[in-house]
Amino acid sequence: MLKPLDIHPGVGDRRAVMEEVNRTAAGKKLQHPASHAPRIFADTADIEEIRPLQERGVISGVTTNPTLLKRAGADSWESAMKIMKDIVDLVAPDPVSLELTELEPVGMIEQAKKLAGIGENVVVKVPVGGYKAINEELDSFTGLRVINQLWKDDIKTNCTLIFNSTQAFWAANAGATYVSPFLGRVADYLYQNDQVERPPGNSLYYVEDHKIPEGGADRVANTAYVAMDGARKDSGIRLINEIVAIFNNYRIKTEVLAASFRNAVQVTECLLAGADILTVPAPLLMGVTDHPLTSQGMAAFVEDSKVFEK
Ligand code: E4P
Repeated sequence: MLKPLDIHPGVGDRRAVMEEVNRTAAGKKLQHPASHAPRIFADTADIEEIRPLQERGVISGVTTNPTLLKRAGADSWESAMKIMKDIVDLVAPDPVSLELTELEPVGMIEQAKKLAGIGENVVVKVPVGGYKAINEELDSFTGLRVINQLWKDDIKTNCTLIFNSTQAFWAANAGATYVSPFLGRVADYLYQNDQVERPPGNSLYYVEDHKIPEGGADRVANTAYVAMDGARKDSGIRLINEIVAIFNNYRIKTEVLAASFRNAVQVTECLLAGADILTVPAPLLMGVTDHPLTSQGMAAFVEDSKVFEK
């Protein structure tokens, strides 16, 4: 869990330098009270999930990925393009992230331009790494190189599959418009793999789970995470907290788009940590106004107000 002391004191300053949302319309005396609120996106490729959220003014953007598109019924690139175009048109002018499926730079840039051609509100989603795991011949820096080229070409990017704060830093340096840290997958991984006799967060950071470096250090990269007392039951929020703090340190305007939500507590934690955008699955968003005590209180008010009907 995020503790109040973990909240970076600069979060408020960072919000103030970020782009204003909920602008007050011209001629209005009542200023919008949440002009620097984080934005909420829907994390789905199902247009029937997006539509009701859009109509209710709950979301200001959408994120998709190949898995979500497959789940929404896409079974070819042609059908995926049709689904993506329908979403882009429905949500415009709000941003929609569409992920690249090509794996080498020339093809990726070409595909990025095609995706960006669907609508001005398209943001091209680029995996930060993992290229070598797919094909040993590929360059580990493919994602960063593509992001940098797209920045030069004035195309917005969302650097996805971020699992540590340095990946986020490099993505921002390359020119990414957004970075997407997957806090839910971190939480899932820690929950499934941490071993109680070791320091918290051990499953992500111990050498037994990775390659032992030459010289035999007993831990691999990011040992600082453990040193910083990462909680065993980390909901993934430390990842968001670190990235916001780093971006705040250097006035980096790349937006922190917290992703991969599993529950409403993670939503609260991301708001505490100062995420710029939260992309949340539709069923979780549809439930945000409900609480058992709200329902109970509402029932009592409705019952008691019957006396006014006389
Ligand atoms: C982010 O943009 C991804 O689409 C998404 O949040 C991944 O979430 P998952 O871990 O539920 O697949």
